[in-house]
Amino acid sequence: MWRRSRRSSPHCWRRGYTGEGTPMIALPSIRLATSKDAALIAEMSRDYIEHGLGWSWTPARVLAAVRDRATNIAVAVDLELLAGFGIMHYGEDSAHLALLAVRPNRQQCGLGARLIAWLEKPALVAGIERIRLEARADNPKAIGFYRKQGYREVGRVNGYYRGTVDAVRLEKRLGSGLGTLAR
Ligand SMILES: CC(C)(COP(=O)(O)OP(=O)(O)OC[C@H]1O[C@@H](n2cnc3c(N)ncnc32)[C@H](O)[C@@H]1OP(=O)(O)O)[C@@H](O)C(=O)NCCC(=O)NCCS
Repeated sequence: MWRRSRRSSPHCWRRGYTGEGTPMIALPSIRLATSKDAALIAEMSRDYIEHGLGWSWTPARVLAAVRDRATNIAVAVDLELLAGFGIMHYGEDSAHLALLAVRPNRQQCGLGARLIAWLEKPALVAGIERIRLEARADNPKAIGFYRKQGYREVGRVNGYYRGTVDAVRLEKRLGSGLGTLAR
């Protein structure tokens, strides 16, 4: 039997069973990436984010980010498939979302929003004031998604990506750290 996840789109429907064969709803779980995830994350970056720009987030670069204590890589795992990931670097006053992607057949199911919220939480707890990110100016879908998550456009950088594609800079102010979380 097919059961529905939180969205009504047909592609968000998925099959899950308890040990006794009873149908269940199993949302993808989100966890920290390990070194074993590095190659798949790099491939997803190449295919879904960096297309047309070359490949800068190679497996070695992702592996370095996995090992970096100031960086979190969140992965969403759906029936053992890596369905999405996000990479955030945490500084003193601001954090930077470097990458975020959800597999096309898992998009529009709420995974992107869950991943970004998961990565924002440590920034809130640490009292970091703002999160910054750049999105390709030729990617209105992502810009619309980030707006929906509370990010506001703060600038544009010509030729940010390899001198050929412009970036839109977006920022989200987090406010008062733990106080915001407690509300
Ligand atoms: C951008 C991306 C991460 C969004 O992930 P997603 O899982 O499809 O997004 P969600 O399903 O979590 O959407 C969350 C909310 O944003 C909204 N949203 C999604 N795309 C949107 C768009 N193009 N315009 C406006 N809102 C949008 C959804 O409607 C949803 O709102 P709701 O909760 O009120 O229904 C995904 O499309 C993706 O991986 N794209 C390819 C890679 C990419 O462009 N990455 C970003 C640049 S690094």
